[in-house]
Amino acid sequence: MTQTLLSPQSEEKTKQSPGPSGGGTAMRVIVPLQGVVQGTGGLFLGSVIPCALFYFLQFYFKRRHRSHPPPSSSPDSTTSPPRSPSTSSDKLPDVSVLHRSLSRLHLSPRGVSSASYVSARANSLIKAADSPYFLGLRKVAEDPYHQIHNPNGVIQLGLAENKLTLDLVRDWLEENVSSAILGERGDSKELNITGISAFIPFDGLVELKVAVAGFMSQVMENSVSFNPSQMVLTAGATSAIEILSFCLADGGNAFLVPTPHSPGLDGDIKWRTGLEIVPVPCRSTENFNLNITALDRAFNMAKKRGQKVRGIIITNPSNPVGNLLNRETLYSLLDFAREKNIHIISNEIFAGSAYGNEAFVSMAEIMEAEDLDRDRVHIVYDLSKDLSVPGFGVSAIYSFNENVLAASKKLVSFSIISTPTQKLLTAMLSDTRFVQKFIEINRWRLGKMYNKFVGGLKELGIECARSSGGFYCWADMSRLIRPYSEKGELELWDRLLNVGKINVTPGSSCHCIEPGWFRFCFTALTETEIPVVMERIRRISEATKSHS
Ligand SMILES: *[C@@H]1O[C@H](CO)[C@@H](O)[C@H](O)[C@H]1NC(C)=O
Ligand SMILES: *[C@@H]1O[C@H](CO)[C@@H](O)[C@H](O)[C@H]1NC(C)=O
Ligand SMILES: *[C@@H]1O[C@H](CO)[C@@H](O)[C@H](O)[C@H]1NC(C)=O
Repeated sequence: MTQTLLSPQSEEKTKQSPGPSGGGTAMRVIVPLQGVVQGTGGLFLGSVIPCALFYFLQFYFKRRHRSHPPPSSSPDSTTSPPRSPSTSSDKLPDVSVLHRSLSRLHLSPRGVSSASYVSARANSLIKAADSPYFLGLRKVAEDPYHQIHNPNGVIQLGLAENKLTLDLVRDWLEENVSSAILGERGDSKELNITGISAFIPFDGLVELKVAVAGFMSQVMENSVSFNPSQMVLTAGATSAIEILSFCLADGGNAFLVPTPHSPGLDGDIKWRTGLEIVPVPCRSTENFNLNITALDRAFNMAKKRGQKVRGIIITNPSNPVGNLLNRETLYSLLDFAREKNIHIISNEIFAGSAYGNEAFVSMAEIMEAEDLDRDRVHIVYDLSKDLSVPGFGVSAIYSFNENVLAASKKLVSFSIISTPTQKLLTAMLSDTRFVQKFIEINRWRLGKMYNKFVGGLKELGIECARSSGGFYCWADMSRLIRPYSEKGELELWDRLLNVGKINVTPGSSCHCIEPGWFRFCFTALTETEIPVVMERIRRISEATKSHS
């Protein structure tokens, strides 16, 4: 084949005529083609096909030349760099030139090009990506603190990660990861590859649902039991919240959300569904607890504006404050939802990370006592927080509503958890002795770390809201901001980040209506890092005081 492609080139030199440029180019194509066809054996086809092609091309170029003025030189000169005098190796590039001139030149005027289209919704995301919350995370990624390798780097207090109990997870994995993912080899001594590589149901393995349901009961001190058949597993809580939002409301509808709330919630609810958030402001004088009067007011104002409210999204224990919703408030919420005919999404991803003396009460526990209106209650759970494995991305929708479950099982195809991950977590959560030990130690370490951190802030004259769970403390730094406004708050945030080198989340990113509050995540630190953080805050705080 190579030979037949090369051999006709010598022949071509004699056949090439200095005729009209178009015809000459066509000729240069046909001759190698002839070689190809002949080379494969058909002498007859080898002459008929090139002849037919030749006449077709001649006809074509004649028509073109009638409508377009002939190019001043050969078409090659406008598209390719000047070439050395005719050597045989020139011939193949000519083919591509001819091809281009036949297709593109004909379709659109050369040199006119516009930016490729990106949807309006994608553009709005691209522009919205610069909130202080995300800016801070980027800053840490560029210059992360390390006790030895980068002691002047930025300390992360902005991301919900719990590293306090990571050692227990690591130890378990070290011993069991292989058998958990690959399965016990048993007698066959062969890996069951279909067990981890085959398709599985989108909404999760039944055995993992059973294990997650058991774990949820365990972290809630067996005050409630969960039915695995009411569960859909998703790749992360973001996805669980989005799927529920999608199922419970249509574009333009709204959810009531108490503020301050997690900075990520805006995106979870709004980005893809086109829903809106109606904030329900909570106040420092009430320790940022949800007030049903305020909820009612927000609902009525939204109604007056013509917004259709479909539900309320609560986070319990709350993020950022860390307070719990008591039984009485949960009953009031249910009454409210009934009266207004709306849904309740109860985000309980920190249920197992409650460390205070107060008992955590799940919305599911209320539902066990209530027979009415179960189908308006939906719970979101997540192993990222309570099991310290955010990288695994395993969460659950738990709903009493058959329709919501049916739709979620379809939508979750956008959010599948890989089979090895599911196998691994099934094994880990089924190890009840490990889980019990983990929950106890985790709770104890969270409480200890919280007290140390809050104690450290107190020594600097910074008070925190009362908290019983989660990874944060919610600190009042309003005395350090000037002016007393969002502007003053963001200036302090900027100084903490760029001068003090600590990344915290400003209250405005959590939509807090009172300026000067900051969210500190204390669970990604080691105890020895607390004094370093406190020293950095002290420097900024003193510099700020002396300026004013
Ligand atoms: C994990 O390893 C420990 C220690 O070898 C063992 O006691 C435990 O049963 C293992 N767990 C599982 C689920 O295999
Ligand atoms: C392999 O794993 C699959 C899925 O877990 C199971 O259905 C099958 O019986 C296993 N095969 C063997 C030979 O163990
Ligand atoms: C809720 O807010 C109303 C009006 O602002 C107030 O009178 C009431 O005391 C608040 N309730 C609680 C439990 O704080």
